[in-house]
Amino acid sequence: MKPITDTAFYCCGARMLDAAQDQPICGDDYAQLFMCAYGMKIFERFKALEQSNASIIVRHRIMDDMLRQLLYNNHDLNVVTIGAGFDSRPYRLHGGHWFELDEPELIAYKDILLPSDQCSNPLHREPINFDTEDLVDKLLQLPHSGPVVFVLEGVVNYLCESDIQNLLGELDYEFPKHRLMCDLVNRETVDKYGQTLNQVLTAMGAPFQSVDHPEAIFLQSGYQAREAVSVMDASLDLGISLVPKFFLRSFFQAEVTGNSVCMWEK
Ligand SMILES: C[S@@+](CC[C@H](N)C(=O)[O-])C[C@H]1O[C@@H](n2cnc3c(N)ncnc32)[C@H](O)[C@@H]1O
Repeated sequence: MKPITDTAFYCCGARMLDAAQDQPICGDDYAQLFMCAYGMKIFERFKALEQSNASIIVRHRIMDDMLRQLLYNNHDLNVVTIGAGFDSRPYRLHGGHWFELDEPELIAYKDILLPSDQCSNPLHREPINFDTEDLVDKLLQLPHSGPVVFVLEGVVNYLCESDIQNLLGELDYEFPKHRLMCDLVNRETVDKYGQTLNQVLTAMGAPFQSVDHPEAIFLQSGYQAREAVSVMDASLDLGISLVPKFFLRSFFQAEVTGNSVCMWEK
């Protein structure tokens, strides 16, 4: 698999450890299914990075909660996860018509271990070679009736500014009106807190492509921010961080806003 695709084992491994806790944050019991010897070998490189692993779990939970709310409001929502990795939300959340796009090798492996026809919600998986195939061609195959939310989790950080602009342009071309949920980490936060993580990723061949103000790309592309949840704030609310909130807000303001989950709309 490509190095960036291998990083899906990192996120999955973090969710597997969470699911094994007495009181898990996400409770993704499917994660352990995918963690074969190859996946565990990749995850071993990241296992000791407790803060980064916690961040993955918290952002996943924020996204779970945001999607639960959207599905509560619209049971038939189309949910399109681009770079889905080993995301198991179609199996864990109620409602929705689900579409997952990722590299062919990952989709083939996922289909064997967790077949889409075993999902209680309608689920379609679509393989795409992100380097050589056109995303628009894949989007063409999706239903264009009804509201749609795109999910980009753990993806934007690996793309440079022009790649993000192109991706947003492709979504706009096929779906001029949609919502988009993603996690955004700015350059300052990566430089301050993500250096060890980025060293591991760089050694794998999948470094972060940090951007100073990633949210500006979305605003320039015509999106309006519907909601933004700080991963640090949420960690506190979920009982992971022990730093008092006033202390967090007073002394770590840049960190509070530098790593967040955003819901965009156009
Ligand atoms: C860090 S993993 C995140 C996986 C999953 N979303 C999660 O949070 O568990 C990054 C994923 O993005 C996929 N990917 C690779 N290139 C991509 C691109 N150009 N656009 C979108 N996704 C891409 C990879 O194959 C991989 O599954």
